[in-house]
Amino acid sequence: MTRFFCLACVFTLADSVFSGAPVKTNDRPIIGVLAQEVFHATPHRNAYIAASYVKFLESAGARVVPVMINRTEEEYTRLFKSINGVLFPGGRVSLKSSGYSRAAAIFYRLALEANSNGDYFPVWGTCLGFEMLTLLTSGQLLLSRTDTKGVALPLDFTDDARDGRLFRGFPEELLKSLATERLTENSHQWSLTTENFTKSERLRSFYRVLSTNSDGQSEFVSTLEAYDFPIYATQWHPEKNAFEWNRPCIPHSPTAVETGFYSALFFVSEARKSWHSFPSVEEEEKALIYRHTPEFTGTLTPFQQIYFFD
Ligand SMILES: *[C@@H]1O[C@H](CO)[C@@H](O)[C@H](O)[C@H]1NC(C)=O
Ligand SMILES: *[C@@H]1O[C@H](CO)[C@@H](O)[C@H](O)[C@H]1NC(C)=O
Repeated sequence: MTRFFCLACVFTLADSVFSGAPVKTNDRPIIGVLAQEVFHATPHRNAYIAASYVKFLESAGARVVPVMINRTEEEYTRLFKSINGVLFPGGRVSLKSSGYSRAAAIFYRLALEANSNGDYFPVWGTCLGFEMLTLLTSGQLLLSRTDTKGVALPLDFTDDARDGRLFRGFPEELLKSLATERLTENSHQWSLTTENFTKSERLRSFYRVLSTNSDGQSEFVSTLEAYDFPIYATQWHPEKNAFEWNRPCIPHSPTAVETGFYSALFFVSEARKSWHSFPSVEEEEKALIYRHTPEFTGTLTPFQQIYFFD
């Protein structure tokens, strides 16, 4: 059933490219956001998702399903067939031995398989999610320390950025602001330097580098998209500008908020090309994050609100 739908949509897409007819989109997209183990600030809880990632996707017309950690591969496969994309958020867990990294590896593999078979399924990684994706693609940890723990930077767009998909729908004025103003917030101690990216044949052949940044010492990759897959990654945090207030380095200007919004709009537009769906309305309702209530955590953590899963 799903596959049939997909073929239909491929044809619609091809038709419209030639005839200018509107492309059929899935206007009820549902995106999975991966949970992770809690950090020291909330030791009495199990797993969490920062609410800003949920608001980010909701602002562009998607609904969210939490992807719990420590589930079986069968459960992840069933969920994969029900949702239209997945987002790997930032965080602090191990890239090699956490529930987050295990689930991310499974969804990454399923996404590669599905997309290779014409079943569109987008993936987005932010910060730790960016690092996770590069590790999954290269099979190697290639990160090094940078002085980027809380700093907003302008993006240094590469010559390839114009050929890419991610920034194509951004207004020209916003792109100018992104290149000159400090709109993208960085909260990471580890980075993938341009040098290490270039040394890895797997990374080079898989990803187009859309932007880089520097901490004054080393240049690192800050925005990536896969050439042949709908896989996107930012080392910076598009979800923080509109929704997180706890760090002085987070920009909140109108252009900063637009940066987050156009990033979300882009990723959700990718999810609208996926035709996965839950087997029933009941199962969909049971899975959606509306069943959970975010808690105020602004005094304890870097996040205004967090969804905890116990
Ligand atoms: C996940 O599984 C690990 C190992 O089995 C366990 O130590 C951990 O507490 C579990 N975490 C959650 C949130 O269930
Ligand atoms: C490349 O990656 C290795 C492994 O993480 C790291 O030790 C090294 O510092 C990195 N080199 C650069 C130039 O980033």
